[in-house]
Amino acid sequence: MSFQLFPVEASSISGEVDQLLFFLVAVAAFFTIVIFGAIFYFAIRYRRRSDNELPAAVHGSIPLEIVWTVIPFGLTMVMFTWGASIFFRERRPPDNALPIYVVAKQWMWKLQHVEGQREINELHIPVGRPVKLTMTSEDVIHSFFVPAFRTKQDVVPGRYTTTWFEATKPGKYHLFCAEYCGANHSGMGGWIYVMEPQDYQTWLSGGTPGATLAENGEKLFENLACANCHKADGSGRCPALGGLFGKDVKLADGSTVKADEGYIRESILRPAAKIVAGYQPVMPTFQGLVTEEGVLQLVEYIKSLGPTLGAGQAEGLAVPGNK
Ligand code: CUA
Repeated sequence: MSFQLFPVEASSISGEVDQLLFFLVAVAAFFTIVIFGAIFYFAIRYRRRSDNELPAAVHGSIPLEIVWTVIPFGLTMVMFTWGASIFFRERRPPDNALPIYVVAKQWMWKLQHVEGQREINELHIPVGRPVKLTMTSEDVIHSFFVPAFRTKQDVVPGRYTTTWFEATKPGKYHLFCAEYCGANHSGMGGWIYVMEPQDYQTWLSGGTPGATLAENGEKLFENLACANCHKADGSGRCPALGGLFGKDVKLADGSTVKADEGYIRESILRPAAKIVAGYQPVMPTFQGLVTEEGVLQLVEYIKSLGPTLGAGQAEGLAVPGNK
């Protein structure tokens, strides 16, 4: 492999990120040259020529002050709006993004597709399709970094972080851990394989069929006896979970929370943190009883549950099932 100063541009956002970077570098270079040029020019032009030389007194200039205030203000506002617009697009995954789950640990990346395929230090994705990563760590902070996609996101124990990208070129791209995480941090890497959609389908069906994430979650739900309290018809001591995902949940303290991945994870591991209005804090914690991968399976299972039969209202519900 030849040495490359710049990684290839292989995602929908990488071209824009590079343009912004070049703009910042150009502005910085321009002012560096102007300022250092002025320093040397003035140092020579106005050097002291004799021991008793006194310079003429200089008074302020309002027009000059205005010019060197307004121009940098305008430049920094361009940087701000340009950067913010890329940042916001980079932070908000499109609704149709393909979900992938990532669990990091010292020193590997474990990746799961909703169809059930698991990968270690490798991720296969289709080209031209947004991919959303929901990530957490089993131990310390890691960071998911794919230079060719110009994307980097911390992966933090105890919560979910997300990132997304849309690969634009089939190929093989380096994945790095970009947060110092211990002795083998530098070896914590892997590869993203971007495939043509039909190749991706072939890859998907070629792997070990196994159970989907949601099916594994359902098994776990049974093994942990969750249904004893979370009865599907809502008659249990704990809320029914059908159609919960994506909905706003009213809490006992009067506030409202959106039932997203993070809320479900927290409710499994720290049930006392948010009590649903009308229910008692009777749920025990499942911290230590279920792995991060298990939590992700439960999340996918709860996502796959449609609204409870007969409930009759479906507003604001997530599309059930990814099967
Ligand atoms: Cu994981 Cu550095």
